[in-house]
Amino acid sequence: MDISRSFGGARALDGVSFRIGKGEVLCLLGHNGAGKSTLVSILATALPPTSGTARVAGHDVLREPREVRRRIGLTGQFAAVDENLSGRDNLVLVARLLGARRAEAGRRAAELLDAFDLNAAADRPARTYSGGMRRRLDLASSFVGSPQVLFLDEPTTGLDPVSRAALWDLVRSCVAEGTTVLLTTQYLEEAEQLADRVIVLGHGRTIADGTVAQLKGRLGGSTVRAQLADPARSPAAAEALRRAGLEAVPGEPEGTVAVPVRESAALAAVVRALDEVGVIIKEISLTEPTLDDVYLALAEGTETAAGVPVAS
Ligand SMILES: Nc1ncnc2c1ncn2[C@@H]1O[C@H](COP(=O)(O)OP(=O)(O)OP(=O)(O)O)[C@@H](O)[C@H]1O
Ligand SMILES: [Mg+2]
Repeated sequence: MDISRSFGGARALDGVSFRIGKGEVLCLLGHNGAGKSTLVSILATALPPTSGTARVAGHDVLREPREVRRRIGLTGQFAAVDENLSGRDNLVLVARLLGARRAEAGRRAAELLDAFDLNAAADRPARTYSGGMRRRLDLASSFVGSPQVLFLDEPTTGLDPVSRAALWDLVRSCVAEGTTVLLTTQYLEEAEQLADRVIVLGHGRTIADGTVAQLKGRLGGSTVRAQLADPARSPAAAEALRRAGLEAVPGEPEGTVAVPVRESAALAAVVRALDEVGVIIKEISLTEPTLDDVYLALAEGTETAAGVPVAS
């Protein structure tokens, strides 16, 4: 791999490498402009890398793009649907382009219309679809060829919770049949639901790579979150915590302090530190790290507040 891609002088990807095993799900997380879509485009042979190359389903994206294309499914961030055709005809068209006979194409289209809950609108032109329906139709078309490798670029953006859960089920059933999935997402819950492995991109580089559990582990521990009775006391609270050897993390709403801690006993230390300076606590909680915390810490390009470097 070692894939880089520049646009003009700007580096969108800077030496990214990874492997995914057959039947695994890799989630690519990263802020807007991190390079997720660029990476997906390169792996799906839609865009050449400036340097480096990759093998997808056993074939080189630069030397054997046709072989790669026959084995992949792709749903881009922006729906590619023929507005004048019905949902059914869109799917039949894709199946025919992939070489299916008419009857087989019809059968596959019917299956997918069912799986993506589009039956009621199947024979209406796609231009009459709602945004979420169009999104589902676009997704359905990436499943037509029963691909070995499926690329899903923000597949659930704009979907309602029911459709989102339906897509997750569909991804899981593809994976159970051996399909490899690379998906990008802004939803951390999605990574937690689906990913065997997560790669976080930041400005075109891999800033973290591991399982959801490993990423959480790197955050180092739990967080004590205290809501102050008087938001104006936030600076005093932060100062008292610092004196006690505890460091509040930035970015919390006014009147809340969040302190990463190594063990639950530190909860008492937080209470003591605040009590000493007369800061009254309205509510206090001890929470396990979530992927959200990991993502935020990485997205800020900082070390975690616990002082553990998160970049690998
Ligand atoms: N065709 C292009 N021409 C010029 N610059 C581009 C092009 N495509 C992408 N870029 C730039 O490359 C960088 C990475 O873009 P990319 O679309 O891969 O990000 P992303 O992680 O998918 O973001 P988002 O979450 O917003 O979809 C951005 O700075 C973007 O402006
Ligand atoms: Mg994108």
